[in-house]
Amino acid sequence: MEAVDLGAKVLCERFQTTVQIETKGLANFVTEADLSSEKIIVQTIRNRYPDHAIISEESHSDRADAQDLWIIDPLDGTSNFMHGIPHFAVSVGYYRNGQPELGIVCNPVRDDWYIAVRGQGAWHKGVRQQVSVADRIDATMITCGFYYDRGSMMQATLDTIGDFFRSNIHGMRRFGAAALDLCNVGCGHYGLFFEYKLHPWDFAAGQLFLSEAGGKATDCDGLALPLHQTSSICATNSLLHEQALKIISPHWNGWKATMLAKPDSGKS
Ligand code: IPD
Ligand code: CA
Ligand code: CA
Repeated sequence: MEAVDLGAKVLCERFQTTVQIETKGLANFVTEADLSSEKIIVQTIRNRYPDHAIISEESHSDRADAQDLWIIDPLDGTSNFMHGIPHFAVSVGYYRNGQPELGIVCNPVRDDWYIAVRGQGAWHKGVRQQVSVADRIDATMITCGFYYDRGSMMQATLDTIGDFFRSNIHGMRRFGAAALDLCNVGCGHYGLFFEYKLHPWDFAAGQLFLSEAGGKATDCDGLALPLHQTSSICATNSLLHEQALKIISPHWNGWKATMLAKPDSGKS
C-alpha cells in the first residue's frame, strides 16, 4: 500500500499539468508520469524485498516463474491521464509461486482503493465486494477494452460488441483502464469485461480482486491467464462465463485465424 500510495501521489501531482509524452506505437503512449510513478513504486518494493522479482510495464521484466513476483502497472489508463480524464490507476499484484496473493488497484484522483488478499476477500471502501448475481446476458451491463490495434483486432472487438448488443445487454461502457474494469466486475457493476489483448500488468491485481469477489477471469479460449506473455481476457461474475465465451469465440477465433494467415495483421 505504501508503494501504491507513493505512485498515486506522483500521478496526482502531474495530472492536468503539462507532461512529456512519448509514442510507443499507434495510439500507445508513455508519459513522464508513467516513468516517475514506476520508479518510486519499484524503489519502495526493492528496498523492502531486495530478492523479489519484478515485472513492470516500462522497465522491469524479471522471470514470471520467480518464487516472489511483483507485477506493476504504474499508470493504467495513460490515454485518460493524457486527456485530463480522472479515470486511471496504479495497479500492483504480488504473486508467490505463480499464485496471486495480493492485489491493489488505486484510482489516485478519487482516492479509491480496491484491495484483495487471497482467501480474505475483495475490499472497496471498507466493504467486502461481490460480483453481480446476473445469470443471463440480457440482464447485465458489460465493459470492454480495445488494444491499440486499428486493424482486424479492432474489427473483431467491434463485431463482438455488436453481438453482445444483439443479445440485449443493458448497455456497454468503455472507461479505458483495464485494472479498474476488472475491479468493477468484482464490485458487481458489470457482469463481464473482455479485451483481445492485455499484458500481465493490466490484470495481475485485478484478477485477484475479481476472483476474491466470486468472479472468474480466463483468456478467450477459457484458459488460465499467463503471467509471462500477452493474452486475451474474458472476466465475468462466473455465472455468465460460458455465455460470454460463446458470444466472444467466433470473433476471437476468426481474428486469430486472420492473424495466423497474415502474421502482421494483429501487430501493434
Ligand atoms: C491500457 C488500458 C486500456 C486497455 C489497453 C491497456 P495502459 O493500459 O488498460 O483500458 O484497453 O489495452 O493497454 O497502456 O494505459 O497502461
Ligand atoms: Ca495498463
Ligand atoms: Ca500503463
